Amino acid sequence: MRVAVCISGRGSNLRALLAELGPDAPARVVLVLSNRSTAGGLELARAAGIPAEVLSDASDASEWLGRLRAHQVDLLVLAGFLKLVPAPVIATFRDRILNIHPSLLPAFGGPGMYGERVHRAVLESGATVSGATVHLVDEVYDRGRILAQAAVPVRPGDTPADLGHRILELEHRL
Ligand code: GRF
Repeated sequence: MRVAVCISGRGSNLRALLAELGPDAPARVVLVLSNRSTAGGLELARAAGIPAEVLSDASDASEWLGRLRAHQVDLLVLAGFLKLVPAPVIATFRDRILNIHPSLLPAFGGPGMYGERVHRAVLESGATVSGATVHLVDEVYDRGRILAQAAVPVRPGDTPADLGHRILELEHRL
């Protein structure tokens, strides 16, 4: 299976995927796409010999589809991708787009819920567990069918950064 990974930042989930997908794996990362030319994960991809491309307009479905077709992509993986995927791309890749989110969805998801904001909201709520979710992407932010989840405890005195680090480790395994 030919996989495209979409990133907006440092790409530590991309790193975890690349480490896991050895030469005999049933899936291979053939393209890394970013909406930001400064995303650290682009360098990671290039160092691994994977084409790393920057979208000139992340809201332009035809640009997406052209790039995905050029690399014969079967599956899209959003790993810290902060833009909405255009609806025609979602329709073309129906049930073939995965996202990872740093909370136990459907709690603490939706527009504006990313990065430390998620962990701050969890701490403010008094929740005693949080975690990570892998789900299918549909037209609504963070609401597609859930494929896998894992939980971590929220500890007394946690800062958003503490909780974020604990969850990021879990994301890499998930
Ligand atoms: C992760 O927490 C992921 O769940 C999220 O954005 C973060 C990306 O981290 N949606 P990285 O770029 O993979 O290090």
